[in-house]
Amino acid sequence: MLAIETSCDDTCAAVVSPEGKILSNVISSQARFHERYGGVVPEVASRHHLELVNTVVEDALSQSRHGLSELGGVAATSGPGLIGALLVGLSTAKALAAAQRLPFVPVDHLQGHVAANFLLPEPRDPPFLCLIASGGHTLLCSVQGRNGYRLLGETRDDAAGEALDKAARLIGLGYPGGAAIDRLAGDGDPNAFHFPIGMRGSLDFSFSGLKTAFVYAVRELGPEASRRHAADLAASFQRAVVDTLLSKIELALQQTDVRCVALGGGVAANSELRARVRALCELEDLELKIPPPELCTDNAAMIASAARYIDPVPYPRYLGFDAFARAA
Ligand code: KG4
Ligand code: ZN
Repeated sequence: MLAIETSCDDTCAAVVSPEGKILSNVISSQARFHERYGGVVPEVASRHHLELVNTVVEDALSQSRHGLSELGGVAATSGPGLIGALLVGLSTAKALAAAQRLPFVPVDHLQGHVAANFLLPEPRDPPFLCLIASGGHTLLCSVQGRNGYRLLGETRDDAAGEALDKAARLIGLGYPGGAAIDRLAGDGDPNAFHFPIGMRGSLDFSFSGLKTAFVYAVRELGPEASRRHAADLAASFQRAVVDTLLSKIELALQQTDVRCVALGGGVAANSELRARVRALCELEDLELKIPPPELCTDNAAMIASAARYIDPVPYPRYLGFDAFARAA
């Protein structure tokens, strides 16, 4: 299975075997093009996808040592994501499939993040609880089988990564700033500032109040003191984000009887989140599954993995398939 993922700012293509072995996983990041704007500019992302997609697909095929004619099918992320960006990957995948009269599989991006857990060499069988936290999404779901998930809660406003990126920008750490906050937080006091936790007692998330509280804290300190206290600000903000994510996992564990927790999305790289979830799992005697970093962030191997469990659409029925910006 060849899969293409272009829902945000990474142009990705991968080839995965029916058993879930990754034969190639090519990711071309556009981050440097969006850096100067402090965030992903949708139209800029679409244009770069157009320029990069053919080369990325060629690389994925040649690294896998398989030609188009040897494929069993082609998959692509059909949503949710940036609509122009999605259309580039979806149209490319449909065209490649149609040229070979191959079946096509449209894949939900979030199901892709879940299916990263099913890839070799360390596949994780359901059931498990899965937290997906990235720059675009934050949700908690219960995974009972390989072809779907039950949504338990999701963000009502910003994603966790988006909040971290905005906080990072406010204290001059550049974009995307989640990893920079993580590094700087190591030198700071997480109790120096108190930031609120959104939607306590619910499985839904909210980070907009936290973001506003951070804006006010930085404003009250003024430029010179915020620079001096940057590490404390980063540590306290990260603590609030991680406390929020952890409290929802704990609440979901009380409501379900799963014995395994899986993490996905770029924020799964956060050292405090990983350490705290690991400690929780040890305490509660639960298994913890965190795919390697390149499978936590956006990639096409996870899309190919998900496609293995979705009914393929035979040629030419998929030619009119469209992308969708939001989950239905
Ligand atoms: O999954 P991803 O690569 O892309 C999407 O947003 O779909 O996630 C990127 C997000 C960004 O917000 C970035 O700041 C955050 O993941 N991130 C981190 C860390 N590394 C990346 N957040 C916290 N700690 C990190 N170490
Ligand atoms: Zn994603």
